[in-house]
Amino acid sequence: MLDSFEAAQAILKDIETANPESKEALEQYRIQYLGTKNVLKPLFEHMKTIPNERKKEYGQLMNTLKQAAENKFNELKSQFEDQADSNKYADLDLSAPAALSDLGSRHPVSIVMNKIISIFQKIGFVVAEDREIEDDWHNFTAMNTPEDHPARDMQDTYYLMNSTEFLLRTHTSSVQSRVMMHQKPPIRIIAPGRVYRNETISARSHCQFHQVEGLYIDENVSFADLKQTLLYFAQEMYGASNIRLRPSYFPFTEPSAEMDVYLGTDTEKTYRLTKGTGWLEILGCGMVDPQVLENCGIDSTKYSGFAFGMGVERQALRLYNIGDIRLLFENDIRFLKQFESTY
Ligand code: DAH
Repeated sequence: MLDSFEAAQAILKDIETANPESKEALEQYRIQYLGTKNVLKPLFEHMKTIPNERKKEYGQLMNTLKQAAENKFNELKSQFEDQADSNKYADLDLSAPAALSDLGSRHPVSIVMNKIISIFQKIGFVVAEDREIEDDWHNFTAMNTPEDHPARDMQDTYYLMNSTEFLLRTHTSSVQSRVMMHQKPPIRIIAPGRVYRNETISARSHCQFHQVEGLYIDENVSFADLKQTLLYFAQEMYGASNIRLRPSYFPFTEPSAEMDVYLGTDTEKTYRLTKGTGWLEILGCGMVDPQVLENCGIDSTKYSGFAFGMGVERQALRLYNIGDIRLLFENDIRFLKQFESTY
């Protein structure tokens, strides 16, 4: 009987002091103490020979033994796993420089738009932004294009859910009416943004594109101010020294004009940009029609102003010699990667 207690104590000691140094040794340990033919089994069988008054004590000792074997095994096992984990990174050079991830580049439309904005910011224009879902009044009526006005045909409009009131703005001129309703002159804003027209998508036209609108209202603003502002823009944007204003028509300006910049035909680039004529058409402009000022609560006897609006994609296509406007909306990373700019 004493033997059984002593044998059990001896095994407990073995269990606690065992120190397997390899995975294989640990497996041996498991088989020895926890396997189907483990060394504890015969000891359990000794129970029969233990006198009744000590059976409880022996039983507890056996439980301790079993528990100790399990605990020790689990502890050793997790030690080996931790070790394996840290071995996984043994070859890693933590001082090596990180692999560079690909940097994105600006979209060509953003590059051109930012350039236009910064040119006007230099002479005191501030950026104004507003909603793309616009109401009929701000997009058309306030801009002197009442319902049934034939000029509405100039811009095929997406109305929302068959509504006659809400639409996707057809031009950023709608920002003019938004600003004038809330701000007193002097007003000097530049309004960049996305616009929509119900047009068939092709290499040359798209149902969405970007415009930059300009508006300047103060006392005694004249056509000469408009002309000088646009000349400055042509110089900064295209390095052009000559512009021409061709008479045109827009409902919200009177008189109205379209502006071309003279780039010459002396280099391959300028020849291509101007289709050999030397002149590149850039924007529409004019003196704000007094009716527009009145519609928006500005006294047209005291104030006058000029406005202009230009498409961004058309300029981007020309400047980067891109043949198809759809490329600007597909967001193909291989295409976009080619553009780098400080703007
Ligand atoms: N809104 C015009 C368009 O989308 C562009 C434009 C022309 C804006 C003349 C103006 C302007 O402010 O004065 O075609």
